[in-house]
Amino acid sequence: MIFSIENILNPEEIEFIVENLSQANFVDGKVTAGWHAKLVKNNAQLEKTSKPYSDLETIVKKALERHPLISSAILPKLIHSLLFSRYEIGMSYGTHTDNALMGKPNYWRSDVSFTVFLSCPSSYSGGELVMESTDGDRAYKLEAGSAIVYPSSMLHRVEPVTEGVRLVAVGWIQSLVRDPAEREILFELDTVRRSIFSKDGKTLEFDLLSKTHANLLRKWSE
Ligand code: NI
Repeated sequence: MIFSIENILNPEEIEFIVENLSQANFVDGKVTAGWHAKLVKNNAQLEKTSKPYSDLETIVKKALERHPLISSAILPKLIHSLLFSRYEIGMSYGTHTDNALMGKPNYWRSDVSFTVFLSCPSSYSGGELVMESTDGDRAYKLEAGSAIVYPSSMLHRVEPVTEGVRLVAVGWIQSLVRDPAEREILFELDTVRRSIFSKDGKTLEFDLLSKTHANLLRKWSE
């Protein structure tokens, strides 16, 4: 499942992040790309050892963790390998797949990828995130503060920026439940039981669905 989530970051958080990025040191994005992705990755990213990195990383992680759709649909165990990327005119990231395991020697798994848009879409041209699938391509260019969350198993690319600057935060989530089909079942059960609760309260149906949700989570989580 692909989710577009509005307003993950509030305007103050966006302003704080963008302001800090405007004064920070960026390096070539190839340093964190896999050997094949390096061939098509052409962007700049915030140096992880630079001063604002850990503060900015915390803001984005907390924003994702507090969002109810992320906790229900993605079931994060770990949000990791966060990058702040900058695409100037002519920069792009060609078709690639994200590494399955990151953060050597920890080997965090990438089950789900996310992009949090930080620039106002009217401030730059191009720079769409394109998801590639068997029935064609779909391009995303969201408002500043909104995020797209998608399976890390998908091929994707970033179109060349032709005007302005595209700033994004990207990162990966290791889910408690590795199988996307199992995550989908848990998400739907959770959605239904919450809907029953909001309509009728803590009924027997709610309790039975909660029990099934909990038992499947117990069975599938790792
Ligand atoms: Ni990618």
